[in-house]
Amino acid sequence: MTELECITLALENGIAVVTLNRPKALNALNAQTLRELEWVLQEVERNPQARVAIITGAGDKAFAAGADIGEMKGKTPLEARRFAQLGQSVFAGIENLDKPVIAAINGFALGGGCELAMACDIRLASENAVLGQPEINLGLIPGFGGSQRLPRLIGKGMAKELLLTGNSISAIRAAELGLVNDVYPQEELLPKAHKLAAQIMAKSRVAVSLLKKAVNEGMEMDENKAYAFEAELFGLMFAAEDSKEGIHAFLEKRNAEFKDQ
Ligand code: CAA
Repeated sequence: MTELECITLALENGIAVVTLNRPKALNALNAQTLRELEWVLQEVERNPQARVAIITGAGDKAFAAGADIGEMKGKTPLEARRFAQLGQSVFAGIENLDKPVIAAINGFALGGGCELAMACDIRLASENAVLGQPEINLGLIPGFGGSQRLPRLIGKGMAKELLLTGNSISAIRAAELGLVNDVYPQEELLPKAHKLAAQIMAKSRVAVSLLKKAVNEGMEMDENKAYAFEAELFGLMFAAEDSKEGIHAFLEKRNAEFKDQ
């Protein structure tokens, strides 16, 4: 794929900034956007210069206002299932990407938009952000993972209230519920996301990658298996030069210089 129509990708000092770029449709997620997102994320994975990704929306109104409702009109059940599977597989790709992904939620994050944000590792929001899963108002249920990721993030009770009422919530309320980590004025959102990305980039790439794996895969295991899995990965870190450098640097009272090995 060479021509991107719905997404832009920019590499800025090791940070891949992925921008959903259909502002007139509030960055609604049609199939083309999902396919471009998939391609762009594979590029981020492949490119050693890219260490952390930020996903945001073009304009100052929306991160993404959901799956494209116009495109869903008239879909057969099989086509709708394929559309859901496409969104789910792209978002699983984000969750399992070897590099951390930060959602900079700069406005509406509804339906598929909220589901996209939930697939990211860290969520920051602007003060004007509005989040929710309004599919029930369309006579639908979420299709890109919302009925599963929302209860895992904020608990079953509150998730069911949001899912069953379709009510949207403010960024501040989302922070209270743990759906977003922090809320900033709109103009500060991207600088804060970059600052957070830079902080993570200073760590060992090997440790960052294994840590993401430990949390994601461990959360899917029963608790005892998860602890055993953590111990395996902890042990594996001792094969990496970076763990030796980190420990030596601490003992020598200097900053570590990780080589990502
Ligand atoms: N799909 C397609 N187009 C959308 C859209 C969506 N999800 N959300 C907004 N748009 C379009 C509008 O149709 C409008 O286009 P036109 O100018 O051509 O008419 C444009 O974006 C601006 O939207 P509004 O005029 O509605 O803007 P507003 O400020 O009055 O309202 C809003 C903003 C509250 C977000 C409202 O647009 C809205 O409710 N959007 C739909 C939200 C929604 O229901 N999302 C869930 C989709 S279903 C889903 O995501 C399923 C899944 O899990 C897979």
